[in-house]
Amino acid sequence: MLPPYWQFPEITEIGREPMLGLEPSRCLSLDGEWRFQLLDHPTAEPAPSWSTAPVPSLWTMQGTWDLPQYTNVRMPFPELPPSTPQLNPTGIYERDLEIPQAWMGDRIVISIGGFESLLIVSVNGTEIGLAKDGRLAADFDISRHVRAGHNVLRLRVVKWSDSSFIEDQDEWWHGGITRSVVLFRTPRTHIERMYLTPGFDLEAGQGTLRVRTKLAFAHGVAAAGLRLQVLLPGDDISLEHTFPVEHMKQHTDFTPEQAAVASAFFLGEYANADIPADVLMQLRTLEPLPIGEIDVTLAIPDVSPWSAESPSLHDVQINLLQPDGTVVESFHRRIGFRDVRIIGRQLLVNGQPVLLYGVNRHDFHPRTGRVLTSEDIRADLLELKRWNVNAIRTSHYPNDPALLEMADELGFYVVDEANIESHAYYQAICDDPRYLNAFVARVSRMAQRDVQHASVILWSLGNESGYGANHDAAAGWLRHFDPTRPLHYEGAIRGDWRRGHTATDVVCPMYPSIQAIVRHATSGAQDRPLIMCEYSHAMGNSNGSLRDYWDAIEQHEGLQGGFIWEMWDHGLEQRLPDGRMRHAYGGDFDEIVHDGNFCCDGVFFPDRTAKPAMHEFLQIAAPVSIEDLGSGLLRVTNRRWFVDAGDLELEWDALRADGSRQRACQALPGIAPRTSVEVDLGITDAVFTTCAVRVREASPWAPAHHEVGWAQFGDTSLAATLTARNIGAADTPDDRERRLLADVVMNARLSLWRAPTDNDRIGGLASRWEQQGLRHLSVVHEQVDGAMLRRTLATGDGTRLQHERKVTATAAGFAVEERVTIPPELSDLARVGIEFRIPDADEVTWFGAGPHETYPDRALARDGLWQLDIGAMHTDYIRPQENGARQRVHWLQVQSPAGSWRITNHEPRHMSLSHFTDAMLADSTHNADLVPERDVIIHLDAAHRGVGSASCGPDTLSQYRVSPGTYVWSWRFEHVTAPV
Ligand code: GAL
Ligand code: MG
Repeated sequence: MLPPYWQFPEITEIGREPMLGLEPSRCLSLDGEWRFQLLDHPTAEPAPSWSTAPVPSLWTMQGTWDLPQYTNVRMPFPELPPSTPQLNPTGIYERDLEIPQAWMGDRIVISIGGFESLLIVSVNGTEIGLAKDGRLAADFDISRHVRAGHNVLRLRVVKWSDSSFIEDQDEWWHGGITRSVVLFRTPRTHIERMYLTPGFDLEAGQGTLRVRTKLAFAHGVAAAGLRLQVLLPGDDISLEHTFPVEHMKQHTDFTPEQAAVASAFFLGEYANADIPADVLMQLRTLEPLPIGEIDVTLAIPDVSPWSAESPSLHDVQINLLQPDGTVVESFHRRIGFRDVRIIGRQLLVNGQPVLLYGVNRHDFHPRTGRVLTSEDIRADLLELKRWNVNAIRTSHYPNDPALLEMADELGFYVVDEANIESHAYYQAICDDPRYLNAFVARVSRMAQRDVQHASVILWSLGNESGYGANHDAAAGWLRHFDPTRPLHYEGAIRGDWRRGHTATDVVCPMYPSIQAIVRHATSGAQDRPLIMCEYSHAMGNSNGSLRDYWDAIEQHEGLQGGFIWEMWDHGLEQRLPDGRMRHAYGGDFDEIVHDGNFCCDGVFFPDRTAKPAMHEFLQIAAPVSIEDLGSGLLRVTNRRWFVDAGDLELEWDALRADGSRQRACQALPGIAPRTSVEVDLGITDAVFTTCAVRVREASPWAPAHHEVGWAQFGDTSLAATLTARNIGAADTPDDRERRLLADVVMNARLSLWRAPTDNDRIGGLASRWEQQGLRHLSVVHEQVDGAMLRRTLATGDGTRLQHERKVTATAAGFAVEERVTIPPELSDLARVGIEFRIPDADEVTWFGAGPHETYPDRALARDGLWQLDIGAMHTDYIRPQENGARQRVHWLQVQSPAGSWRITNHEPRHMSLSHFTDAMLADSTHNADLVPERDVIIHLDAAHRGVGSASCGPDTLSQYRVSPGTYVWSWRFEHVTAPV
C-alpha cells in the first residue's frame, strides 16, 4: 500500500534527478501510443484490460469520463489543504521498453517533460520515484531497475494532490501528460548539473559566462583527471579545467607555515576582508574546491550583446574529457550575452531603460488543452513578434524549454515564473511550513534549468499566493544562486508598493489604474522600476485606454511597461451533439463549479487570430514615430534602444487637393537608436498622407515588407470628401428607391443600449441598464409637424426623454437632423444614437478609422477608405457582445441588390454595421449559436461609451463615457450610383 504521497506537501519528490541545466544529448523519444487506463483513485489497481492514449496528451481532452473544468480563484473541490477528494482521477500509462544490452553499463534516465499534477514512476513493477511540479521535466535514473531486453515502464499520474493547492492558476484543470517523454543515456560518470550564467560587461565591452558545473561519479567514487572543456568555436575562446577531487587535508599534514596561515584565518585574523593575496593562495590549497565542481567565469571579447532587438547568439560547446582527452559527454548551446540590472527606478538591459511591451502567455491549445508541439510554440512567438510584442511573462509556470530557446533566438525579454499559485488559500499556504520545500524546490529548479537563457531577465516567484516566509526563503535561494537577475513577485507589493523588497526588485502590480501608476511615479516614494505584471484585461471586447497607459509610461521615468492579460482566449474546441463545433468555456463540460467565460480573456482568439486590440498595440509599440514638419518633411524618431532604423522602409501614399495621388516607398536612413532624422518625401502639395513603416527584408519572424507601424497627417475631412467622389455620385432615386430611403429615415430608432460587453456585465453596468429598462424604449407621445418629428420616449423604468428629428428631402435622398436630450437620471449610458436596417446588404465601403474594429478608448487606427463584406465587420467574440464599431466615420456606403446607399455624417461619427441585432448578441452565450440576418443593422451614434477593462481592472475612463445632456447631430441618407 502506498503512503498517500498526494497529501504530503513536504514530500516534493523522491528520486528525481537534479536539474541538468542543459538539454540532454542522446535522447530517444518515447512519445506515441501507450497503454492507458483511467482509475478513480491513486491506490486503485489497474484492470487487466487496457485502452490506449497518446503520450503526451491530457485524458481530459481525450473523451474519458473526466472532463476539463475551469475555475479562476476557487478550488474545484471543497477539501482543505492538503487533503484531496476521494474521487481522484488517476491515469496509468504503461509501455514496454526494450533496452539494448550495449546500454547496460550506462546511466539510463527517463525524463517526463510535463504532467498534472503528481507522477509516480514504476519500472518492472517497482515504484522508483515520484515528482510534483509537472511544469518542469522530471528525470529519473532507472539504470538500476532495468534489465537488458524487455522492461515495463509505468507512469501513474494523479490529478489532485497537495500540489493542486499551489497550482490554482486561473485556467482549465486537466489531467495527463503535457510534454514529451524521452529516454536518454549518459556515462555513469557524467555532468550532473551545468549552470551557465551569461552576462555582458558594459565597461569592458565583452561577454561573460559563468560556468558552474558538478559531476556525478560512478559508484560515488571520485575519479581524478576529468576535465571540462568549454569552447566558443566562432570566437576562438576556450577553457579547460580539471575537476578537483582532493579531500580536505588533515591539519596534521600541514607544514608549520600552512598551519600558521590556517590558524590565523580560523581565529578571524582576516575577518575585515584584509586577506593578503599570498595568504589567499595558501588557503586555497588548504581548503580545496568541492569535489567534482567547477565555478569559473569566462570573458568573451568581440561579441555583440544580446537584446530582444538584436538577439545575437554564440555557439558554446561543452565537453567532459577523460584524462586522455576522450570525450565522455558533449553538449552544444547557443548563448546570448547581455547585462540586466536595476539602477534606481530603472531596469536596464545593457545599460538602456528599455520598455516592456509584454503579454502574459499561458500554455494553451484549443484541441489538446495545453499539449504543445515546438511548432505550436514557435507559431505563438512568431505571432507575438509580428505584433511588436517584445516581452513575455510565462504566466504562471515555467514553459517548455523550447519556448526559452526560441525567445533567445527571436528576441523576447522573459519574466520566468515559478509554478506556484495558491489563489484560493491566498495568505495561508505561503506561511505554511509544510509547503516550504515546495516553494523553494519549484523556484530553484526553474532557475537551475533556465539560468542559461539570455531572454530571462527577471525571475518570478509565482503568482497570487500572498506573501509569506516561504517566498522569502525562495527569494533567498535565488539571490544566492543567481545574483545577476532581479526578482519579480506581485504578492510582495500588493497593497503597498513600497514594501516587499526581500522578494521583489520591481513594483509589479496587476491592473493598476493609470492614475495610480502616475501617482506612484511622481510621489517621490518610488524606489524601484514599476512594471505591471498584468494590465489591460483582454476579456471579450476590451483593452480600453491602452494608448492612455502608454502615454503615461512614456512620460514618466520609472514606469517601464507591462504585460497585457493575456495572450489566449482559452476556448476549447467542443463538438456539439448536432455536429457543430464551438469554443467551449467554463460550464460547457457540465461542470458544477466553474467561472464561465472568464477564461476567454486573451488578445488572440483560440485559432490564434489577433483581436482588434492588437492593431492598436502594434502602433503603440512601433519601432519609429513620425512627425509631420510640413511640405513633405518628416521627423522620424527611432524609438528602439539598440538597433538603427536601417532595416525599415517607409511606404507613403499622399493625396493632393485635386484628388490625384502619389505613392512611393523609400528606405529609412540608419537613424541611430533614440535619435531623430529629417526625411524628405519630395512632395510639397499633399493634403493628406498615410505612411506605413515596414521591415525591408524577411527576418526569422516576418516576411519582407511586414508592417510594424504607421503615421498619418493632413486634412482628414478633405480626404474623405475627395475620396467619396471616386466611389459613386449621388443619384436621383426612382420611386421604389425613394420609398426605401424614406422608410429607413422615418423608422430609425433611438438607441441608448448595447449588447453588454464582458466589461459591462462584470463591471455591473449591464444590470443597471437592465433595471433602467434601456433595452426597449417605448414611444409615449409622437407629433409630426411638417418636417419635424417630435417623440417622447420612456425607458422601462419610466424615465422620459425627448427625441426630435428634422427631415429634409435632398435631390438624392434625405438630410436628417437629430436632437436628443438625456436627463440626469440616465448617466453613463452605452450610447446615444440611432439604429436602422437596410435590407439585403452585403458589402460596405467607408471612410473613417479602419479597417479593424475601434471604440472611443481604443481608437488608434488609420483613417482611410476601407471596404469589407458586412459579415467581416463583425468581431466574433466567443461570448457574443457589442462589437464591430468603427470610429470617425465620415461616410459609408452600403451595397445591396436594391441599390447603393450612402450615409454621410456631418461630423465623423461612431458607427457599426452588423447582420446581428443587439438583442441576438446579448441573449446568446456562444458565437456558434449566432445566425446572421440578411438585413444589415446600422448604428450611428452621437456618443458611445468606451470599452474600458472593468472585467478585471479599471472601468472606462470618464472622458470616454456618455453623460446626460443634449446631443445634436446630422446625417444624410442618399442613393448613389454603384461604384465603378
Ligand atoms: C489575475 C491573475 C490571472 C488572471 C487574471 C484575470 O488576477 O493573475 O491569472 O486570473 O487576473 O483574468
Ligand atoms: Mg489567480
